[in-house]
Amino acid sequence: MNKKRVYSGIRATGRLHLGNYFGAVKGMLALQDKYDCIFSVVDSHTITVPYDPKTLKQSVREIILDYLAAGLDPKKCNLEIQSKVPQHTELAYLLSTIYPVSRLEDLPTYKEKKAQYPKYINMGLLYYPVLMAADVLLYKAELVPVGIDQEPHLEVMREIARKFNSMFGQTFPEPQRFKTEGDYVPSLAGGRKMSKSIEGSFINLNDDLETIRKRIAGASTDSGQIGGEVPKEGGVANLFKLLKLFKLNNEFNKFEQDYETKKIRYTELKEVLVQAIYKELQPFQERRKKFEEDSKLVDDIINASNRKCLQMAEETMREVREKMGLD
Ligand code: TYM
Repeated sequence: MNKKRVYSGIRATGRLHLGNYFGAVKGMLALQDKYDCIFSVVDSHTITVPYDPKTLKQSVREIILDYLAAGLDPKKCNLEIQSKVPQHTELAYLLSTIYPVSRLEDLPTYKEKKAQYPKYINMGLLYYPVLMAADVLLYKAELVPVGIDQEPHLEVMREIARKFNSMFGQTFPEPQRFKTEGDYVPSLAGGRKMSKSIEGSFINLNDDLETIRKRIAGASTDSGQIGGEVPKEGGVANLFKLLKLFKLNNEFNKFEQDYETKKIRYTELKEVLVQAIYKELQPFQERRKKFEEDSKLVDDIINASNRKCLQMAEETMREVREKMGLD
C-alpha cells in the first residue's frame, strides 16, 4: 500500500516567524514520520506581490535553511522549490480552464491583497488559489498542514478536484487541512494574526534574546480598565493566547488571577513569554548555523529532492494530459 501524500508550502517573503512555525512547520514535523511528504518554498506564489528579483533566490534559500533547522529531515520528506518543478504551472493552467473567475474574485485573500497593493492587482494574484490547488493536486496529496487562514484556499482546491473528477474521471483526492494547536497565532500588534507584512506583529525564528525582548516589550496591552475577566480580543488577549501556545499553564492561571484582581504586571508576564520563546528557538538557531556552514550538503539535499519531485509530478501530468485529451 502506498502511503498517503502530504503537501505544504511557504512563500519566500522573509524569514519564518512564530505563526509559520506553529501553524505550518509543526504540522509538517508531525506528519513527516508517517506519510510521503513534499514541503515546498513556493517562489511562483511569492512573485504575485511586489518583490525584488535580485534577492528572491536568497530568500528561497533562507526558507530551505529554516525548514532544515526546524527539523524537516530530507531522509523522511522531500524539500521542493516550486519553480524547479514546472509541472505546477502547467497543471495550474489546465485547472484554470475549469474554474469560474467569479469565485476567485470573491475570495477574502484576493480582496485583502487588492487593498494592500492597489497598484499591483495582477492576474497572478487572482490565479493564486488555482496555482495553490495545482501544487497539492500535482502530488495527489490528501493532507495539507497549514494555518486556519488558508482554509478558503483549501475549499477551492476541493472544488477544483471535484469538478475535474466529474468532468474527466476520478483522478484527484479532496485534500483536507491538517490542523495544529497553533493554527492561528495572534499578532503582537494587538490586531488579528501574526503576519510578515505587519511590522511589530511577529517574532522571527532567528531573533536573538534581545530582539525577542524588544518585540515583546512592544506588544500592545490594554491601557484602559483592568480587572474582571481576561478579554477575548486585543493585545492582552493575545498575550494570554501566547502563554497557552507555549503551554505555560501555571503561569496562565497566575496571570489570569492577577488580571481579575487588578494586580497584573505586564512586564512580568512579558518576560515569562520572552524566556519561553527563546528556549523554544535556541535549538533551532544552533541547528541552522550548522546548515548555513555546509552549503554543499544543502545543495545536495535540494537536488536529490528535486529529482524525486519531478518524477512524481510527471506521473500525474501524464495522466492529466491524457484525460484532458492533450497527450
Ligand atoms: P504563507 O507563506 O502566507 O504562510 C505559510 C504558512 O504559515 C501559516 N501562517 C500562520 N499560521 C498560524 N498563525 C499565523 N499567524 C500564521 N501566519 C502564517 C499559513 O497558514 C501557512 O500555512 N498560500 C500559502 C502558500 C502555499 C501553500 C501551497 C500552502 C502555496 N501553495 C500549497 C499549502 C499548500 C501562503 O500564503 O502561505
